Amino acid sequence: MILLLTGCTGQHRHYIIGVSQCSADIWREKQNAELRMGAYLHEHVELRFAAAYDSDQRQIEQIDSLVASGIDLLIVAPNQVQTISPAIDRAFDRGIPVIVFERKTSSRKYTAFMEADNDEMGKVMGEYIVTRLGGKGHVMEVMGLKGSSPAIERHDGFMQAVQQAPGIDVVASLQGDWTEPKAYQMVKQWLAANPSTSVDLVFGMNDRSATGARKAFQEAGRSLPLFCGIDGLPGPQGGIQLVRDSILDASYIYPTHGDKLLQLAVDILDGKPYEKETHLMAALVTRDNARVLSMQTEEMMRQAEKLDLLHQKASDYLHQLDTQRTITILAFILTGLLLLTIVFFYRYHVSQVTLRRERVVNSLWNMKPEDIPEVEPTAAVEESLFITRFKEVVEKHLGDSSLSIEDLAADMNLSRVQLYRKVKTLTGSTPVELLRTARLNRAYQLLIATDKSVSEIAYEVGFTAPSYFTKCFKEEFGTLPGDARNG
Ligand code: FRU
Repeated sequence: MILLLTGCTGQHRHYIIGVSQCSADIWREKQNAELRMGAYLHEHVELRFAAAYDSDQRQIEQIDSLVASGIDLLIVAPNQVQTISPAIDRAFDRGIPVIVFERKTSSRKYTAFMEADNDEMGKVMGEYIVTRLGGKGHVMEVMGLKGSSPAIERHDGFMQAVQQAPGIDVVASLQGDWTEPKAYQMVKQWLAANPSTSVDLVFGMNDRSATGARKAFQEAGRSLPLFCGIDGLPGPQGGIQLVRDSILDASYIYPTHGDKLLQLAVDILDGKPYEKETHLMAALVTRDNARVLSMQTEEMMRQAEKLDLLHQKASDYLHQLDTQRTITILAFILTGLLLLTIVFFYRYHVSQVTLRRERVVNSLWNMKPEDIPEVEPTAAVEESLFITRFKEVVEKHLGDSSLSIEDLAADMNLSRVQLYRKVKTLTGSTPVELLRTARLNRAYQLLIATDKSVSEIAYEVGFTAPSYFTKCFKEEFGTLPGDARNG
């Protein structure tokens, strides 16, 4: 019953996985959704999310409190390379497996690492830009958060590519922080300070930086350059759609792969073999492939939504089952208790009735017929009369050693079975037992009141062997017939 109540099937350990995200934006939301979807496949996995909103201090505190809350594994996207390492080290040193994903840390204390190649991304984007501008033009770069590894690596890759083209002039490398408002503000300031420098293309290190820059150009009334970004998310706000709508000229799919991340975490916790370093595939999004890509990603999103719905339904159903199981078990326990109570009271009642009957029967057994009071013939009286009548019949045949229960029953106009049942129910004793008691009682009286020998008395009260009589007498009265006479 306890197994049923706990629903324990004894298969998997329950895993708590902490997810420390450095930021909160549509890229992170997509990844968190995929992590959740991945967890659907493992019903024993619980996810605990924390988002640091690009603050080092907040992320450090969140990692410490995730660890204190008892997580079994930590997934972390560190805001910056240097700053978050001590908190990650603390978790690792407590024996908690750590997966660092998407951004690097200066610490070597991690169990596994998963990322897409940011250096390569910057390089491919740089090469695309060179080609797009025909090897000649003014380019502005809006970088990501200083100190975060993708910002450093994307910049390096980008510079490496554009430096190969002498006609490309990087007129500005502005310090952004991955957010749209920061990019907007930095570009606005630059435009105000550089009214006559023309810009042919802006490379925002993510799509949000590119759209922030675009707003600043629009607001300044400047002719719009081309804008390129990175992330290439699906959906209405995503980079793929922005390329389709010609708001961006190109983007780059920066893979989220929360499902892969979760599988890696579960493999580590299950003690299965896993890759220590995983490199995710990424791809350029341009006007040429944006339509196909958006069709594919939209289809995938539809499937994901369906899956989500199915999971919701399955959870509701499981919840209902759980409730039903609890109700069934409670009903089972209550019915058991009720049955026990009924049985207890029934047995108590039966014992009381039997006791009362035995008292009545005993007193009637010892009364002379003329002393029995005249009463209304109720069921109890009927029973009393039966006992009196039975007593008379027994006493009449007392001395007859060949007397059988059939003879007694015939005298009572009953069958042997009927007599047995009735006498047993009313007195608790069998007819044979009562006959023997009556014989021994009569013998006791004769021993005291007459000089007859023990053998004579034994025969007179219907025993066939004096030795057997002596044995029964001792059992009944605890004394030998001879001693009873003398005592
Ligand atoms: C999401 C994000 C992306 C960017 C990545 C860099 O939080 O800002 O837009 O590509 O992080 O780590």
